[in-house]
Amino acid sequence: MNTVPVPRKVVIGAGAHAELAKRLYTVRPDLEIRGSKYTDVSADDLAWADTYVGFKRPPLPTMGNVRWVHCTGAGVDSWLAEPGLPRAILLTRTSESFGVYIAEWALARALAFRQQLFALAESQRRHEWAPRDVRYVRGSNAVIVGTGDVGSHIARLFAALGAEVHGVSRSGKGDVLLFASTSTVDELPRLAATADWLIVTVPLTAETRGLIGRDVLSACRGAVLMNAGRGAVVDEAVIPEALENAWLAGAMLDVFEVEPLPTDSPLWDDPRVMISPHSSGPTTIDGAIEGFLECLAEIETGQLPSRMVDRDREY
Ligand code: OXD
Repeated sequence: MNTVPVPRKVVIGAGAHAELAKRLYTVRPDLEIRGSKYTDVSADDLAWADTYVGFKRPPLPTMGNVRWVHCTGAGVDSWLAEPGLPRAILLTRTSESFGVYIAEWALARALAFRQQLFALAESQRRHEWAPRDVRYVRGSNAVIVGTGDVGSHIARLFAALGAEVHGVSRSGKGDVLLFASTSTVDELPRLAATADWLIVTVPLTAETRGLIGRDVLSACRGAVLMNAGRGAVVDEAVIPEALENAWLAGAMLDVFEVEPLPTDSPLWDDPRVMISPHSSGPTTIDGAIEGFLECLAEIETGQLPSRMVDRDREY
Protein backbone atom coordinates (compact mmCIF):
# COMPACT_ATOMS: atom_id res chain seq x y z
CA MET A 1 0.00 0.00 0.00
CA ASN A 2 1.17 3.53 -0.79
CA THR A 3 0.97 6.16 1.90
CA VAL A 4 -2.31 8.06 2.01
CA PRO A 5 -2.49 11.76 1.05
CA VAL A 6 -1.91 14.07 4.00
CA PRO A 7 -5.20 14.10 5.95
CA ARG A 8 -7.19 17.34 6.07
CA LYS A 9 -10.84 16.46 6.67
CA VAL A 10 -11.61 14.17 9.56
CA VAL A 11 -14.95 12.63 10.57
CA ILE A 12 -15.08 11.33 14.11
CA GLY A 13 -17.77 8.69 14.56
CA ALA A 14 -17.86 7.73 18.23
CA GLY A 15 -19.92 7.98 21.40
CA ALA A 16 -17.56 10.66 22.70
CA HIS A 17 -17.37 12.38 19.28
CA ALA A 18 -17.94 15.91 20.62
CA GLU A 19 -15.16 15.67 23.24
CA LEU A 20 -12.82 13.99 20.79
CA ALA A 21 -13.47 16.64 18.13
CA LYS A 22 -12.96 19.46 20.64
CA ARG A 23 -9.73 18.00 21.95
CA LEU A 24 -8.36 17.25 18.50
CA TYR A 25 -9.19 20.75 17.34
CA THR A 26 -7.21 22.27 20.22
CA VAL A 27 -4.05 20.41 19.21
CA ARG A 28 -4.59 20.48 15.44
CA PRO A 29 -6.63 23.58 14.53
CA ASP A 30 -5.44 23.19 10.95
CA LEU A 31 -7.64 20.09 10.47
CA GLU A 32 -11.30 20.32 9.50
CA ILE A 33 -13.30 18.12 11.81
CA ARG A 34 -16.87 16.79 11.89
CA GLY A 35 -18.18 14.64 14.71
CA SER A 36 -21.23 12.40 15.10
CA LYS A 37 -22.24 9.15 16.73
CA TYR A 38 -21.08 6.44 14.32
CA THR A 39 -24.72 5.55 13.65
CA ASP A 40 -25.44 9.18 12.67
CA VAL A 41 -22.51 9.65 10.30
CA SER A 42 -23.99 10.37 6.84
CA ALA A 43 -22.94 9.49 3.31
CA ASP A 44 -22.32 13.20 2.85
CA ASP A 45 -19.85 13.21 5.78
CA LEU A 46 -17.95 10.31 4.23
CA ALA A 47 -17.94 11.92 0.78
CA TRP A 48 -16.51 15.10 2.39
CA ALA A 49 -13.87 13.39 4.55
CA ASP A 50 -10.49 11.87 3.75
CA THR A 51 -10.14 10.36 7.23
CA TYR A 52 -12.46 8.54 9.63
CA VAL A 53 -11.78 8.03 13.34
CA GLY A 54 -13.98 5.64 15.34
CA PHE A 55 -14.45 2.16 16.72
CA LYS A 56 -17.05 0.79 14.33
CA ARG A 57 -17.91 1.19 10.71
CA PRO A 58 -20.86 3.52 10.15
CA PRO A 59 -23.87 1.63 8.78
CA LEU A 60 -23.45 2.94 5.22
CA PRO A 61 -22.67 1.02 2.02
CA THR A 62 -19.33 2.69 1.30
CA MET A 63 -16.71 4.77 3.07
CA GLY A 64 -17.08 7.56 0.48
CA ASN A 65 -13.80 9.39 -0.10
CA VAL A 66 -12.19 8.20 3.12
CA ARG A 67 -8.62 7.00 2.51
CA TRP A 68 -7.62 6.37 6.10
CA VAL A 69 -9.59 4.75 8.93
CA HIS A 70 -8.19 4.97 12.43
CA CYS A 71 -9.85 2.51 14.81
CA THR A 72 -10.05 3.73 18.40
CA GLY A 73 -11.01 0.31 19.80
CA ALA A 74 -8.79 -2.64 20.67
CA GLY A 75 -10.20 -5.02 18.08
CA VAL A 76 -10.53 -4.17 14.40
CA ASP A 77 -12.68 -7.18 13.46
CA SER A 78 -15.76 -5.07 12.70
CA TRP A 79 -13.72 -3.29 10.00
CA LEU A 80 -12.62 -6.53 8.41
CA ALA A 81 -15.96 -8.36 8.59
CA GLU A 82 -17.86 -8.68 5.28
CA PRO A 83 -18.06 -6.61 3.14
CA GLY A 84 -14.61 -5.68 4.49
CA LEU A 85 -12.85 -2.37 4.24
CA PRO A 86 -11.24 -2.07 0.75
CA ARG A 87 -7.50 -2.70 1.00
CA ALA A 88 -6.85 0.64 -0.70
CA ILE A 89 -8.06 2.31 2.51
CA LEU A 90 -5.38 2.45 5.17
CA LEU A 91 -6.52 0.91 8.47
CA THR A 92 -4.66 1.76 11.67
CA ARG A 93 -5.45 1.09 15.27
CA THR A 94 -4.97 2.91 18.48
CA SER A 95 -1.84 2.60 20.57
CA GLU A 96 -3.89 2.84 23.77
CA SER A 97 -3.26 0.04 26.28
CA PHE A 98 -6.55 -1.61 27.22
CA GLY A 99 -4.70 -4.24 29.23
CA VAL A 100 -4.51 -2.12 32.35
CA TYR A 101 -8.30 -1.87 32.56
CA ILE A 102 -9.13 -5.39 31.43
CA ALA A 103 -6.70 -6.82 34.00
CA GLU A 104 -8.71 -5.11 36.77
CA TRP A 105 -11.94 -6.38 35.21
CA ALA A 106 -10.59 -9.95 35.34
CA LEU A 107 -9.16 -9.66 38.83
CA ALA A 108 -12.38 -8.14 40.19
CA ARG A 109 -14.28 -11.17 38.91
CA ALA A 110 -11.75 -13.66 40.22
CA LEU A 111 -11.90 -12.10 43.69
CA ALA A 112 -15.69 -11.83 43.68
CA PHE A 113 -15.93 -15.48 42.70
CA ARG A 114 -13.44 -16.83 45.21
CA GLN A 115 -14.67 -14.58 48.03
CA GLN A 116 -18.30 -15.40 47.21
CA LEU A 117 -19.19 -11.72 47.24
CA PHE A 118 -22.53 -12.14 45.48
CA ALA A 119 -23.71 -14.88 47.83
CA LEU A 120 -22.61 -12.77 50.82
CA ALA A 121 -24.49 -9.74 49.50
CA GLU A 122 -27.56 -11.91 48.99
CA SER A 123 -27.31 -13.25 52.58
CA GLN A 124 -26.89 -9.74 53.90
CA ARG A 125 -30.04 -8.61 52.12
CA ARG A 126 -31.87 -11.42 53.94
CA HIS A 127 -30.18 -10.53 57.31
CA GLU A 128 -28.61 -13.99 57.31
CA TRP A 129 -25.39 -14.80 59.16
CA ALA A 130 -24.14 -17.35 56.64
CA PRO A 131 -20.43 -18.22 56.76
CA ARG A 132 -19.08 -19.14 53.34
CA ASP A 133 -16.27 -21.27 52.07
CA VAL A 134 -14.01 -18.44 50.93
CA ARG A 135 -11.13 -19.36 48.63
CA TYR A 136 -8.24 -17.37 47.25
CA VAL A 137 -6.62 -16.40 44.00
CA ARG A 138 -3.33 -17.31 45.68
CA GLY A 139 -2.38 -20.84 44.68
CA SER A 140 -4.79 -20.97 41.73
CA ASN A 141 -3.87 -21.73 38.16
CA ALA A 142 -4.62 -19.28 35.36
CA VAL A 143 -4.45 -20.09 31.67
CA ILE A 144 -4.49 -16.93 29.61
CA VAL A 145 -5.26 -17.19 25.92
CA GLY A 146 -3.38 -14.31 24.29
CA THR A 147 -0.02 -13.13 25.59
CA GLY A 148 -0.09 -9.59 24.17
CA ASP A 149 -0.87 -6.35 25.98
CA VAL A 150 -4.13 -7.56 27.58
CA GLY A 151 -2.95 -11.06 28.47
CA SER A 152 0.30 -9.71 29.92
CA HIS A 153 -1.43 -7.19 32.17
CA ILE A 154 -3.78 -9.88 33.46
CA ALA A 155 -0.82 -12.19 34.06
CA ARG A 156 0.93 -9.51 36.08
CA LEU A 157 -2.03 -8.97 38.44
CA PHE A 158 -2.84 -12.66 38.91
CA ALA A 159 0.82 -13.51 39.51
CA ALA A 160 1.06 -10.66 42.02
CA LEU A 161 -1.67 -12.37 44.08
CA GLY A 162 0.19 -15.69 43.94
CA ALA A 163 -1.52 -17.46 41.03
CA GLU A 164 0.51 -19.57 38.64
CA VAL A 165 -0.03 -18.13 35.19
CA HIS A 166 0.35 -19.94 31.88
CA GLY A 167 0.08 -18.25 28.51
CA VAL A 168 -1.21 -19.57 25.22
CA SER A 169 -0.67 -17.85 21.91
CA ARG A 170 -0.47 -18.45 18.18
CA SER A 171 3.32 -18.27 18.25
CA GLY A 172 3.72 -19.90 21.65
CA LYS A 173 5.64 -16.82 22.77
CA GLY A 174 5.07 -14.55 25.76
CA ASP A 175 7.02 -12.63 28.38
CA VAL A 176 8.98 -15.24 30.36
CA LEU A 177 9.01 -12.93 33.37
CA LEU A 178 5.19 -12.98 33.51
CA PHE A 179 4.21 -16.47 32.36
CA ALA A 180 5.31 -19.68 34.08
CA SER A 181 5.00 -21.32 30.65
CA THR A 182 3.85 -20.35 27.19
CA SER A 183 2.36 -22.77 24.69
CA THR A 184 0.75 -22.80 21.28
CA VAL A 185 -3.01 -23.17 20.85
CA ASP A 186 -2.88 -26.89 20.12
CA GLU A 187 -2.01 -27.32 23.82
CA LEU A 188 -5.30 -25.72 24.87
CA PRO A 189 -7.25 -28.88 25.82
CA ARG A 190 -4.35 -30.11 27.99
CA LEU A 191 -3.99 -26.73 29.71
CA ALA A 192 -7.75 -26.26 30.09
CA ALA A 193 -7.82 -29.40 32.24
CA THR A 194 -5.46 -27.69 34.72
CA ALA A 195 -7.09 -24.25 34.74
CA ASP A 196 -8.95 -22.59 37.58
CA TRP A 197 -9.25 -19.57 35.27
CA LEU A 198 -9.43 -19.82 31.52
CA ILE A 199 -9.08 -16.23 30.37
CA VAL A 200 -9.64 -15.31 26.74
CA THR A 201 -8.12 -12.07 25.45
CA VAL A 202 -7.46 -12.73 21.77
CA PRO A 203 -8.89 -10.70 18.88
CA LEU A 204 -11.35 -12.26 16.45
CA THR A 205 -9.64 -13.51 13.29
CA ALA A 206 -10.22 -16.42 10.93
CA GLU A 207 -7.81 -18.41 13.16
CA THR A 208 -9.38 -17.56 16.52
CA ARG A 209 -13.07 -17.90 15.57
CA GLY A 210 -14.42 -20.79 17.66
CA LEU A 211 -10.98 -21.43 19.21
CA ILE A 212 -12.57 -22.16 22.58
CA GLY A 213 -14.96 -24.79 21.31
CA ARG A 214 -16.51 -27.91 22.77
CA ASP A 215 -13.15 -29.72 22.71
CA VAL A 216 -11.56 -27.11 24.98
CA LEU A 217 -14.61 -26.50 27.20
CA SER A 218 -15.23 -30.21 27.77
CA ALA A 219 -11.58 -30.62 28.79
CA CYS A 220 -12.05 -28.10 31.63
CA ARG A 221 -12.40 -29.46 35.15
CA GLY A 222 -14.32 -26.73 36.92
CA ALA A 223 -12.56 -23.69 35.47
CA VAL A 224 -14.04 -20.22 35.47
CA LEU A 225 -14.14 -18.96 31.91
CA MET A 226 -13.51 -15.25 31.37
CA ASN A 227 -13.95 -13.70 27.94
CA ALA A 228 -12.82 -10.15 27.27
CA GLY A 229 -11.64 -10.86 23.70
CA ARG A 230 -14.50 -11.37 21.28
CA GLY A 231 -17.70 -13.38 21.71
CA ALA A 232 -17.15 -15.51 18.61
CA VAL A 233 -13.77 -16.77 19.87
CA VAL A 234 -15.77 -18.96 22.29
CA ASP A 235 -18.54 -21.31 21.18
CA GLU A 236 -21.15 -19.48 23.24
CA ALA A 237 -23.84 -22.11 22.62
CA VAL A 238 -21.76 -24.67 24.55
CA ILE A 239 -21.43 -22.52 27.70
CA PRO A 240 -24.77 -23.59 29.32
CA GLU A 241 -23.86 -27.26 28.78
CA ALA A 242 -20.36 -26.65 30.11
CA LEU A 243 -21.87 -25.17 33.30
CA GLU A 244 -24.40 -27.98 33.66
CA ASN A 245 -21.64 -30.60 33.33
CA ALA A 246 -19.40 -28.68 35.75
CA TRP A 247 -16.74 -28.39 33.05
CA LEU A 248 -17.06 -24.74 33.98
CA ALA A 249 -17.74 -23.46 37.50
CA GLY A 250 -18.60 -20.00 36.19
CA ALA A 251 -18.48 -17.74 33.15
CA MET A 252 -17.53 -14.07 33.32
CA LEU A 253 -18.41 -12.63 29.97
CA ASP A 254 -17.84 -9.14 28.60
CA VAL A 255 -18.25 -9.94 24.91
CA PHE A 256 -20.83 -11.96 23.01
CA GLU A 257 -21.45 -13.36 19.55
CA VAL A 258 -24.35 -10.91 19.20
CA GLU A 259 -24.22 -7.58 21.05
CA PRO A 260 -26.22 -6.44 22.88
CA LEU A 261 -26.76 -9.97 24.20
CA PRO A 262 -30.32 -10.92 23.15
CA THR A 263 -32.78 -10.71 26.05
CA ASP A 264 -33.78 -14.36 25.59
CA SER A 265 -30.23 -15.69 25.97
CA PRO A 266 -30.09 -18.34 28.74
CA LEU A 267 -26.87 -16.72 29.96
CA TRP A 268 -28.78 -13.83 31.60
CA ASP A 269 -30.53 -16.03 34.16
CA ASP A 270 -27.74 -18.36 35.19
CA PRO A 271 -26.32 -17.26 38.58
CA ARG A 272 -22.96 -18.78 37.63
CA VAL A 273 -22.68 -16.31 34.76
CA MET A 274 -21.61 -12.71 35.23
CA ILE A 275 -22.32 -10.44 32.32
CA SER A 276 -20.82 -7.03 31.59
CA PRO A 277 -21.84 -5.02 28.51
CA HIS A 278 -18.56 -4.98 26.55
CA SER A 279 -17.12 -2.53 29.02
CA SER A 280 -13.99 -4.24 30.35
CA GLY A 281 -11.57 -1.95 28.50
CA PRO A 282 -12.84 1.53 27.69
CA THR A 283 -11.39 3.83 25.05
CA THR A 284 -10.30 7.04 26.76
CA ILE A 285 -10.30 10.49 25.18
CA ASP A 286 -6.58 10.92 25.89
CA GLY A 287 -5.70 7.49 24.54
CA ALA A 288 -7.80 7.91 21.40
CA ILE A 289 -6.31 11.31 20.57
CA GLU A 290 -2.78 10.18 21.31
CA GLY A 291 -3.11 7.07 19.12
CA PHE A 292 -4.53 9.11 16.25
CA LEU A 293 -1.82 11.77 16.51
CA GLU A 294 0.93 9.14 16.50
CA CYS A 295 -0.34 7.68 13.23
CA LEU A 296 -0.98 11.15 11.78
CA ALA A 297 2.61 12.20 12.48
CA GLU A 298 3.91 9.16 10.61
CA ILE A 299 1.62 9.76 7.64
CA GLU A 300 2.58 13.44 7.52
CA THR A 301 6.23 12.49 7.27
CA GLY A 302 5.51 10.04 4.45
CA GLN A 303 5.82 6.85 6.49
CA LEU A 304 3.44 3.95 6.78
CA PRO A 305 2.10 4.04 10.33
CA SER A 306 3.61 1.44 12.63
CA ARG A 307 0.06 0.83 13.91
CA MET A 308 -1.15 -0.16 10.47
CA VAL A 309 -3.36 -3.26 10.62
CA ASP A 310 -1.91 -6.28 8.86
CA ARG A 311 -4.84 -7.30 6.64
CA ASP A 312 -3.63 -10.89 6.36
CA ARG A 313 -3.11 -11.44 10.08
CA GLU A 314 -6.27 -9.41 10.79
CA TYR A 315 -4.82 -7.38 13.64
C1 OXD B 1 -12.83 -3.50 21.78
C2 OXD B 1 -12.96 -2.21 22.46
O1 OXD B 1 -12.12 -3.62 20.77
O2 OXD B 1 -13.93 -2.07 23.25
O3 OXD B 1 -13.45 -4.47 22.24
O4 OXD B 1 -12.13 -1.34 22.26
